[in-house]
Amino acid sequence: MSFQPPKGTDDLLAPKSQTWREVLSLWDEWSARYGFPLVMTPILESTELFQRGVGETTEVVTKQMYTFDDRGGRSVTLRPEGTAGVVRAYLNSGHQGVWKGAYSGPFFRYERPQGGRRRQFWQVGVEYLDVESPAADAEVVELGYRYLESAEIPGLELLINSLGDSECRPGYTDVLRGYLGGKKAELSEDSVDLIDVNPLRVLDSKTDQSVLVDPPRMVDHLCDACSGHFLSVKALLESLGVPFTEDHGLVRGLDYYTRTTFEYIGRRLDTAQNAVGGGGRYDGLAETLGGRPTPGVGFALGVDRIALAVDEADRTYLDAYLVSETGPEEALWVASRLRRDGVKVDFDSEGRTVKAQFRAARRVDAAITLVWKGKGEPIDVQTNTGRWDVALEEVSDWLRGQT
Ligand code: HAM
Repeated sequence: MSFQPPKGTDDLLAPKSQTWREVLSLWDEWSARYGFPLVMTPILESTELFQRGVGETTEVVTKQMYTFDDRGGRSVTLRPEGTAGVVRAYLNSGHQGVWKGAYSGPFFRYERPQGGRRRQFWQVGVEYLDVESPAADAEVVELGYRYLESAEIPGLELLINSLGDSECRPGYTDVLRGYLGGKKAELSEDSVDLIDVNPLRVLDSKTDQSVLVDPPRMVDHLCDACSGHFLSVKALLESLGVPFTEDHGLVRGLDYYTRTTFEYIGRRLDTAQNAVGGGGRYDGLAETLGGRPTPGVGFALGVDRIALAVDEADRTYLDAYLVSETGPEEALWVASRLRRDGVKVDFDSEGRTVKAQFRAARRVDAAITLVWKGKGEPIDVQTNTGRWDVALEEVSDWLRGQT
């Protein structure tokens, strides 16, 4: 049989499909716990919905949409994301006031396929509409975090930022234009074209990151209302025990965001695509689509990446990976000692570089890396939460204390 699935799409059979089944049913459980009933919208929408909603100058709209004319001559697009469709459905439904919806389904973006980046991919997500309070942001952010935590995504991290609103964003984009204007000679042509129309998009350009050193930051230009909102969201997350890191460079790739934006990262995912999800507030989107003013907040998570992370985590069969700075023979001696103490440990016997040994540690998804620096030196124990010096004879006890 010579037919292959289209580039960037996958067949999913057992045992992988079993992981998906578990990940998706866990989502049904968590989204229901937070009071989000199911919402389903068409996979095909009018092209204009995304042009207006997601933004004419975003990469998603300019380069990644599957757009075609149907047999009636209408331009339609396979949905590249879910928020615009859900907000459209809410506005069409005639429902007034607070509304919650959770979704799960396939989405399409014409991207360069690689591990964790597909042309057909699956998202689960929520949208919470007609809500203004920081408590809504915190509830939504917490749901995504708790779900990913219960799916046991290794190295889960939450990044948050604020992108301001129609009060304070214009002042900031002026400052940003000034900064980018001074770098025109070094920026790619695509970025130079964006400076006037949408300078924020330059900040997430894939090719120009090395040029964008210390750009002006939105957080330094927030108006009082936005800054108060951001402070409240952070305080609420703290009170809920949801750990986060502020990332002032987090701008997201879609134009509708205002105020809170966030991303969930799987730090130990063995792929360049380690954002397992993202979202934020989009207080102006409903009006952009011609509806009444309806603030909202939501997120979407990439199930392809979640399933990858879960499968990788399942493969972890080691307590630790040993990296040796003094060659494989000493590593063999150290590993032997640790193994007799009951530690499941592996190392590279081929004398590869320290960098290659760290790569191997990531590949086997070892939660702990032990760096051997030589006899008489303590072992440098590295985890994703910190580093410790531990004497060789105490390593096995130390590891037992971790579990
Ligand atoms: P997004 O950041 O474009 O946001 O996508 C959310 C997640 O979908 C990403 O973090 C990633 O895990 C996954 N994803 C995106 N593109 C691909 C791809 N080509 N292959 C595999 N996974 C992918 C949105 O889509 C917004 N609608 C989220 C949102 C909801 N904001 C507010 N409400």
